[in-house]
Order: sequence, then structure tokens, then C-alpha cells
Amino acid sequence: MPLQPIQVPEQFSTSDHPSTALRLIELAKERSDAFLKLSQPVIHNYVPCDFDLVNQGLAWIMDNYLLAGNRFCEFGSGLGVAALLASAHGMDSIGIEIEAALVEEACRLASDLELPARFYCGSFVPRNISDIFELSQGIEHVVTDEGDVYEEIGLAPSEFDLFFAFPWPGEYHFFESLFQQCAADGACLLTYQGREGLNLIRKI
Ligand SMILES: C[S@@+](CC[C@H](N)C(=O)[O-])C[C@H]1O[C@@H](n2cnc3c(N)ncnc32)[C@H](O)[C@@H]1O
Repeated sequence: MPLQPIQVPEQFSTSDHPSTALRLIELAKERSDAFLKLSQPVIHNYVPCDFDLVNQGLAWIMDNYLLAGNRFCEFGSGLGVAALLASAHGMDSIGIEIEAALVEEACRLASDLELPARFYCGSFVPRNISDIFELSQGIEHVVTDEGDVYEEIGLAPSEFDLFFAFPWPGEYHFFESLFQQCAADGACLLTYQGREGLNLIRKI
């Protein structure tokens, strides 16, 4: 199945953002800074995305009715901010994170902001990926040998309409292949790519 790129604007015109999203961003920046400074042991794979940019991207996706449905999944959710933002924008949202300390922080943010996003501790990499050994070669920042959590979630990857991930440099192709293999036709993958901003593709 081919993947269709969707051009995301480099700059977003100001749109009205839900007040919960703005409060979340402020609090999440404080919590993320504190986590990076104080957490022991250090979780080297955790780097936060640009929360403001992801919020603008999500608002733009919603304003342009780009999704086939309302289910959102953040792959490697860290503090869960993208999943919580999607929830603030009205999506039915979950995050999957392998590090328990980060899942705890994401649940604390959800509870403090009274957002209904749910977080699961485990791997987002589905067990049944056929070429996982080849695909994992050179991938250093994604855990590829742990069991997935889709049974606990009660949903298969093919039931989500929008995925979000922040791949480490050089690891985007891993997320794209995963998405291509396990998402439904019509689903979208939004990625934050550091200085290059946001990238959006749809499976067709
Ligand atoms: C670059 S951070 C991004 C965090 C968050 N998505 C954000 O954008 O702020 C990647 C996260 O993926 C997590 N991770 C790595 N492999 C994973 C896996 N197989 N399943 C779930 N989480 C994973 C890491 O622990 C880390 O928190």
C-alpha cells in the first residue's frame, strides 16, 4: 500500500486552541524539564518534542478534516503530551510507553488536567511484524524485543486513525514501515522531526 505525503504548512495561522491544551503545554514544559534534570536512572531515549508545534499541527489536522475517525495513538509517549493534546482536541486518545516512570508522569498530567487520555506501559511494536529483525538493524532508540500491549488496550493498531511519533534522527524509516504494515488504509502518521518540523503521511 502506498503512503501519501500531506503537505503541512511551515507556519500555522493562529487558530483558537482549547484552553486545556494551553494549560497542558505550560505544565508539561515544567514537568518535562524537571524530569530531565532529576529522574534517576536517566532515561536516555526520552527527548520531548516541541509541544506548541504539535498542538498547532493537531489543530490544523482537525480544522482540515483530514482524519477518517477519532482514535489517536502516540508511539513512545514519554510524558504523553501529544496524546493529551489530542484528547484536549476531542480525540479518543492513548499513549504507549516502555518506561514506567514516564507512564506515571503522563498519568499524573492527565489526572491534573482532567483529560481522559489513557497510558499503557509496554511496547508499541506489534509482535507480528514480519521482518522485525531486518527492520531493527541500526535502530538504537526503540526497544524492539519486548511484548506489545495491544491486547491490554483492547484495540489493534489497525483501529487507530492518527498516530504520532518523535523518531530519533535516522530512525524515521522504522516508524514508517511499522505504520505501513499495521495501520488501516486511510490512517495517518504525524511525526515531529526536530528542526524539520512536522511530517504527515496517509496510508492509501
Ligand atoms: C524521543 S522520545 C519521545 C517522547 C514523546 N513522544 C514526545 O514526543 O515528547 C521516544 C520515547 O519512546 C520510548 N520508547 C522507545 N521504544 C519504545 C517501545 N518499543 N515502546 C514504547 N515506548 C518506547 C522511549 O522510552 C521514549 O520515551
